[in-house]
Amino acid sequence: MMHEKIKTWLQTSDPARLSDLWQQADAARQACVGDAVHLRGLVEVSNTCACACAYCGLRVPNRRVKRYRMTPPETVTCAHQAEQLGCGTVVLQAGEDAGLTAEDVAETIRAIKRTTRLAVTLSLGERRADELAYWRREGADRYLLRFETSNAGLFNLLHPGRSDGGAARQALLEALRELGYEVGSGVMVGVPGQSVDDLARDLLRFQELDLDMIGLGPYIAHPDTPLGRGDLTLMRGVQQVTPDVLTTCKALALARLLCPQANIPATTALATLDPATGYELGLQRGANVIMPNLTPARYRRSYNVYPGKGGDAEPARTVVDLRRRIAALDRTVGTGRGDSPNWRSHQLEDPNDRPERRLA
Ligand code: 5AD
Repeated sequence: MMHEKIKTWLQTSDPARLSDLWQQADAARQACVGDAVHLRGLVEVSNTCACACAYCGLRVPNRRVKRYRMTPPETVTCAHQAEQLGCGTVVLQAGEDAGLTAEDVAETIRAIKRTTRLAVTLSLGERRADELAYWRREGADRYLLRFETSNAGLFNLLHPGRSDGGAARQALLEALRELGYEVGSGVMVGVPGQSVDDLARDLLRFQELDLDMIGLGPYIAHPDTPLGRGDLTLMRGVQQVTPDVLTTCKALALARLLCPQANIPATTALATLDPATGYELGLQRGANVIMPNLTPARYRRSYNVYPGKGGDAEPARTVVDLRRRIAALDRTVGTGRGDSPNWRSHQLEDPNDRPERRLA
C-alpha cells in the first residue's frame, strides 16, 4: 500500500469507504490470525523511570507519582495468576528503571519458565544489547518497544535529552529480531505534533520492520506533563492527527492490512477512551489480542502513564468480563501461547536466508 493511499484512508469520513476498510481489516484478521482472541496478562513491574517523555505521566520530573518496583517473587505470583486465569502470555512492563537489574529480570524469567507454560514478553524500554541477549537466553520470548514516531524531529521534541531522532530505538528493534525475539512496536495515535503524513509513515514503518506485534492506542493527555498542561505546544498547524476512537480504529485497520500476520491488541488506551465499546471496536477492526491488567491494585494506582489507565477491578473479574465480551462477538478466547504466525513462518524458513530469525 502506498503512502498516499494510506493518507486517504486516514482522512476519509465517508461511511461507505469506512465500512469497506473495517470489512477488509476484519477479513484479513480472520484469514491470517483467526477468530481467537489471545489474553496477555500485563504486570507493571516498576513505575520508576529515568526518562522525561513529554506525554507520559511517569516522567521523572513528576513528583506526584509514588514510585514502586516489584520484587521477583511478587512478579512470579502475578504470572501464576495469569496462567490460572487462562492467559497464554505474561507481559512484564516497566519504565526505564536501571534499579530493575538484569539479574532481577533474569531471575523472574527463570522462575516463570520453570513453573508455568507461559510465553514471557518483556516491555522494559531501551536496555543494553547484552541484557536483551541475556534475557533471551534465560527464556524470554518477546519484546515490545514502541518507536512512538518515525519523524526524527518530533521524536526529539517528545523525548527531552534525546537528539538521535529515535535511531537508537530503531537499531534496538533490529537487534531484538537478531536475538530471535518476537518483536513488537507501535505508536500513539494523535500525539501532539503528529501529522497525517507522520502517521502514514509510521504505519509503513511497521511493514518495513516486519513486526510480529503492533501496539496502537490514542494519545490521552496527562495533566502532570508538559504536553498535557499545554506548556509545550507542538501543533504546527498542519493536519494534526486527532487522538480519537475513529482515527485509532483506522490506524489499527491499516496496520492489519499492512502486517496481516501480526498480533495486534485492542489497547487499554482505546478502551479508556471508550469504556463501553472500545475493545469491541478494536477486535472488529483488525485486533486479535487483549491485555488484561494483572498488576496488584496497590501498585496499579501508581502506574498512570495517562489518566484513567488500569482502573481498580479485580483481575479475576476483569477476565470474566472480557470472556463475556469476546463471546458476545462470536469470537473465542485463545489457548496456548498465541505466537505470531509472522514469527512462526520465519522460524520455518531456511535459517541461512534469515539468520536473524534463528532461535538462539
Ligand atoms: N497517552 C497514551 N499513551 C501513552 N503512552 C505513554 N504516555 C501516553 C499517553 N499520555 C504509551 C506510549 C508507551 C506506552 C507504554 O504507553 O506509547 O510506549
